[in-house]
Amino acid sequence: MNITGKFQELSSGSDLNDVAKMDEKHFPHPWKLSDWMELDFSKHVLVTWSDETLEAFALFGLVPGDDTAHLYKIQVDPAMQGKGISMLFWSAILNILKQKAVKSIYLEVESSNDRAIGFYKKVGFACLRRVKGYYSNGSDGLMLQLTL
Ligand SMILES: CC(C)(COP(=O)(O)OP(=O)(O)OC[C@H]1O[C@@H](n2cnc3c(N)ncnc32)[C@H](O)[C@@H]1OP(=O)(O)O)[C@@H](O)C(=O)NCCC(=O)NCCS
Repeated sequence: MNITGKFQELSSGSDLNDVAKMDEKHFPHPWKLSDWMELDFSKHVLVTWSDETLEAFALFGLVPGDDTAHLYKIQVDPAMQGKGISMLFWSAILNILKQKAVKSIYLEVESSNDRAIGFYKKVGFACLRRVKGYYSNGSDGLMLQLTL
């Protein structure tokens, strides 16, 4: 498959509507639009992949002075999953994070989310621990970490 499209790091709230819509429609634990509108771009990194329409986004939290990024959300449009976009998108994301001197990434994922866990393992994340009842629906969370 010929993958087209371009990625960009968003630096203001003006382009957030499409991201918020994709989050609402597809992400397992979506935010409210008001949460998106309160995003502080000095502490968050939001990367998108678009080809006419939005195809993927990823949101990270950064703590000033710390070299670890927290992956809050990554979403590829369901129609585009399993087609290689996620790997290209991930590689673009890593370049952006490395430019910000990030040295490691951590995240939590629902233990039943086999597809996401498959993706994270494929790109090199290791499981640190399982937290019982971590999610509001009572399901367990896995804490994963990747050293860049
Ligand atoms: C997570 C996400 C971004 C990954 O993108 P993707 O295009 O689906 O990822 P890929 O297809 O490249 O990789 C998934 C891997 O898991 C494997 N996988 C898929 N379903 C699986 C399953 N049920 N059990 C185990 N492994 C599975 C795939 O085979 C693939 O590995 P492979 O390429 O070696 O075959 C995407 O699935 C997504 O947007 N999911 C919904 C949002 C989400 O849950 N985000 C993470 C929240 S923490």
